[in-house]
Amino acid sequence: MKNYLIVLLISYVSFSLSQNTEKEKFIDDLISKMTLVEKAGQMNQYNGFFDATGEMPEGDYQTKRYNELKNGQVGSMLNVIGVDEIKAFQRIAVEDTRLGIPLIFGHDVIHGYKTIFPIPLAESCTWDMDLIKKTARTAAREASADGLNWTFAPMVDISRDARWGRVMEGAGEDPFLGSLIAKARVQGFQGDNLSDISTIAACAKHYAGYGFSEAGRDYNTADFNHYTLHNTILPPFKAANDAGVKTFMNAFNTIDEIPATGHKILQRDILKKDWAFDGFIVSDWGSIEQMIPHGFARDGNHAAELAILAGSDMDMESSLYVNELVKLVENGKIGISLIDDAVRRILNVKYDLGLFENPYKYCDKKRSEKELMSEKNMNLALEVAMKSIVLLKNESELLPLNKNNQTIALIGPLASDKNSSLGNWRSQAISNSATSVLEAMTNYSGNKLFYEKGVDLYYNNTDFHNRVNLNFDDRSEFNKAKTVAEKADIVVMVLGEEGYQSGEGRSRTNIKLPGLQLELLKEIYEINKNIVLVVNSGRPLDLSWEDENIPTIVQAWQLGSRSGEAIAKVLYGDYNPSGKLTMSFPRNVGQVPIYYNFKNTGRPSTSIEQVTNSGYADVENSALYPFGHGLSYTKFSYTDVLLDKTELTLKSKITLSFKIKNIGTVKGTEIAQMYIRDVVGSIARPMRELKGFKVVELNPGESKVVNFEINAKLLEFYSYNNKWEAELGDFQVFVGGSSDTSDFQEFELVN
Ligand code: BGC
Repeated sequence: MKNYLIVLLISYVSFSLSQNTEKEKFIDDLISKMTLVEKAGQMNQYNGFFDATGEMPEGDYQTKRYNELKNGQVGSMLNVIGVDEIKAFQRIAVEDTRLGIPLIFGHDVIHGYKTIFPIPLAESCTWDMDLIKKTARTAAREASADGLNWTFAPMVDISRDARWGRVMEGAGEDPFLGSLIAKARVQGFQGDNLSDISTIAACAKHYAGYGFSEAGRDYNTADFNHYTLHNTILPPFKAANDAGVKTFMNAFNTIDEIPATGHKILQRDILKKDWAFDGFIVSDWGSIEQMIPHGFARDGNHAAELAILAGSDMDMESSLYVNELVKLVENGKIGISLIDDAVRRILNVKYDLGLFENPYKYCDKKRSEKELMSEKNMNLALEVAMKSIVLLKNESELLPLNKNNQTIALIGPLASDKNSSLGNWRSQAISNSATSVLEAMTNYSGNKLFYEKGVDLYYNNTDFHNRVNLNFDDRSEFNKAKTVAEKADIVVMVLGEEGYQSGEGRSRTNIKLPGLQLELLKEIYEINKNIVLVVNSGRPLDLSWEDENIPTIVQAWQLGSRSGEAIAKVLYGDYNPSGKLTMSFPRNVGQVPIYYNFKNTGRPSTSIEQVTNSGYADVENSALYPFGHGLSYTKFSYTDVLLDKTELTLKSKITLSFKIKNIGTVKGTEIAQMYIRDVVGSIARPMRELKGFKVVELNPGESKVVNFEINAKLLEFYSYNNKWEAELGDFQVFVGGSSDTSDFQEFELVN
């Protein structure tokens, strides 16, 4: 048996070696045939600039690009959509250019392609890696069936600032959870074999620090220290790299005053050298050219030079590589080896995707017709939408609703909306294709249901290219809403952000319910206090007034194609909510950036009364709803928390165990969390850090013992010695259903 395994291993190794040599030989051969102009062309990426299935392009701009395409000076395109268009562009690359090198087609497939899943921030609240992997897998199946081979996802930027509109695209504030999610998403998109027609290349973005844009203002300077970079920002990127992600995208912001796109240490030293990343780095849209307004590059030629020296392999939409690289090599400013390295990286990914074997392999109308919005995909959209919902508060247990004999007033502009919950970055979603809460609640026919929108959230329709035009003055629908509220047993209000109020370029300084919605809520509250508030948003909102007054609050994000049904199932108890927050909700916008893994400071504050401690005079420091928070229709007790030893050595492990019991009357799922505090470090350490979690499903009265293993590896951090290591000393371990759990056990790490 042993011999058999050895033979198998040897043949597998020699098979993959021979495959690799074959690939290397093919690519070496191709590179040796390429002119410098063609090499620079592979490093150039253009947005879809004309309808390739229609008329010939007109105008100087398009004609220049068209000629470049035919001349082998374009290596990749983005935002070319659909089998026919992609085929038509690919045909030009393959048939008209001298070497026939296929294009790689990229697009932002962020939370589904045509079947839309919850926005990534919502989905992260499931803490369910299998499910997250499945949605990425499904999005890849749909996108690849429609001809695409590359998604600009996952976005793995850690962010602590709800003002920043792009928090909707990420996995929240925590590097431990963020790393697991990065891995799951990469594995989902890329599968086990990239040449399989149902997989696409993934892209870890935005490398790095974009989530730390100052004051939450998009594209702004980012300012953080070296340790924050390594301990908080980089781990999800490292996890994506370890999972084999094929591409990285750099970022718009500066780090240490250097634009990320021109940041050599980040791209060449850390990513390509220390982490041995062998895929390619694409710039963000125009970010090479944007080094000029940053005040880092003198002109386009200089920007191209800085970008290639720093390690950016492909230029998205600046046209600077195609215009300047040849001159830079000819003038001796950059060596040809840098160009060859970038081209090799790009060709490798094209090879792995199987594009040289068959450039049209992803273009299959039949597969696309079968795959897009299939029943299976749409069912998955419902499952993940339900699991993404977080029950923030349920004080007088208004939820779940009775299924019979209640009069319910459904109020709010988002209750009948079929568009907003598709969220930003909705790829090929059909407008108005999401199910609404109104439609879904109508199906529960045992109750009397009255609907009034109460107010318009915005004027005109919205899309990606416009800012949402909010309604601040039209209250003409208020009275109708008050009338239905008056006769209802329970009022369900669906309020929040329009789908395009978060996302790129959608930073906000006011994160309360937008427009006139809070005013409407307050007026309804005067009439009927039995309110269930359902919040749709792409970011944590300031819900302080709501928390103080409204008995029940459900955070329902923007949940995608099956949004309405998911919300209705939770409201009626057909699904018992299990989501846990992955971003802290502030008490007001003045608290942000706010995050659970903060440091203690030299003057920690324990009450608002203390004047010379690190606190505020008007609100306490804690979050309104912390990271990890999320309720259920049942309750769970945590008891018998035990460490099997109180001393851990660098080589041993200790086991933390505890009993978790469902002490309520319905079945429920709890996400049990373990946090660890490193009490004294060579640098100041966070008050606690998530180090493990388990999803536990329990029937009423049922209990289970949960174990976590703790070893020195788990305690490592990027220390004063500029390396990952665990430092000897005292540690505290916390377990519970949220990051604010207070009881802890202690152990010591010894030599
Ligand atoms: C965004 C990227 C996106 C790219 C292509 C940029 O503006 O920052 O995240 O992938 O556009 O759409």
